[in-house]
Amino acid sequence: MAPDHADLGVRLVGEELLVPCLDGAERPYLSLDAGASTGALPAVAERVQAFLPWYSSVHRGAGWKSQFATAEYEHAREAALAFAGRPGGGERDDVAIICRNTTEAVNHLAYRLRFEPGDVVVTTVVEHHANLLPWGRVASRRYVECTPGGTFTVADVVAALDAEPRPRLLAVTGASNVTGWVPPIDAIIDAAHDRGVPVFVDAAQLAPHRPMPVTADFVAWSGHKMYAPFGAGVLVGPRTAFADGDPFLAGGGAVDLVDLDEVVWTDPPEREEAGSPNVIGAVALRSAIDEMTAIGWDRIVAHDRALAARLRDGLAALPGVRLLGSGFDDVLPVGTFVVDDVPHALVAARLSAEHGIGVRHGCFCAHPYLLRLLGLTDAETARYREAVLRGDRRQIPGAVRASAGLSTTAEEVDRLLDAVGQIASGEPAPVAYDQDEHTGDFWPRAASGPWSSADRSLGASCARG
Ligand SMILES: Cc1ncc(COP(=O)(O)O)c(C=O)c1O
Repeated sequence: MAPDHADLGVRLVGEELLVPCLDGAERPYLSLDAGASTGALPAVAERVQAFLPWYSSVHRGAGWKSQFATAEYEHAREAALAFAGRPGGGERDDVAIICRNTTEAVNHLAYRLRFEPGDVVVTTVVEHHANLLPWGRVASRRYVECTPGGTFTVADVVAALDAEPRPRLLAVTGASNVTGWVPPIDAIIDAAHDRGVPVFVDAAQLAPHRPMPVTADFVAWSGHKMYAPFGAGVLVGPRTAFADGDPFLAGGGAVDLVDLDEVVWTDPPEREEAGSPNVIGAVALRSAIDEMTAIGWDRIVAHDRALAARLRDGLAALPGVRLLGSGFDDVLPVGTFVVDDVPHALVAARLSAEHGIGVRHGCFCAHPYLLRLLGLTDAETARYREAVLRGDRRQIPGAVRASAGLSTTAEEVDRLLDAVGQIASGEPAPVAYDQDEHTGDFWPRAASGPWSSADRSLGASCARG
């Protein structure tokens, strides 16, 4: 029998749970929000449970448990290096720094590269804010623009690299969190290296879906987006980049000697990990890496492609639905769309309250990219900006994103398509929805259930980006 690429047979912890819907029925919760965060793989949860009795301080204790925990932590570091395509014993002398997430990793690297005023980092308008804002603090940014479809070419990157002054770094995403577009990252890295420019790849979205770009100088990703939601992420780069100078965090564990006014920092990677590390997160991350390795990239990529085609073609075919982004040679199983005349926040609220489907809506922490994809004029953007500054997020531009992961099936994609189709066809909602001015979110007028709770002020959208 031919393999069913659209169903890997993987299930995540909690996927059997039912959630209440407005019609009084309970439905199996369908998370199509893997791009934001994934549930845990059962093997990851089991590994964490099995490790907990042995949990102890790492790098600090002589006791058996401390030694065991330290070994587990260091094995996770080795697994992260191998996952990034830099296994021990290879020619490269890279280190894996275990941190909280991609955001922390980029801030860490931006601090550590010790740019001088006037130094330039080339980046792109496609980036998540995590790969934009930290660079703006330490350098001038030069942007690679995108087409209305949301792509750029290697030649566009080359033009930005060749402009004066010469850049110190190229910081680019391995895959977009908004459209799922996978840029031709290997060719981009080669072009930068031909010009002597090192490259940081934000692999937050890439890591759960495609092998890492092995030639990148620096790469970072987050465990919570690859089935290990226990708070660990990774920054990988050459040991030499972290060998001198002040580490990002100063404190215990990062030093060899401290006198009242002198410090001798220890060697990387410990030099970069001041404070007690997240051992559980590291154990979970290693387990997720093992599980993904066991499934294998061939199967993961085939599953991604089958789902991406079904999701994206299905959305594009729905009357009244506009899929954002086009012209992609490779794309993750992500479909970001707007529905004519229905605010993005209302589409997401109806998918949740009427269908039990969890998606993301808003600007996805990538405002420059989203505004381009939506094709907003400067005047429109200025109007929204003014309203937001007044605290009114009701008209904030945005879209709805459905993003799939290892456990998503073709039937689940069809469930989303049916639900979006109903909303886009103008089918009236069973109850009225009220919009919260402060968050921009919509809430059904229901007497009971989570919708009537007092937690509304927290909001659901990423309007705040
Ligand atoms: C492309 C991209 N980069 C960076 C991040 C930030 O990741 P984290 O929130 O884990 O720090 C995200 C999160 O959505 C992302 O999608």
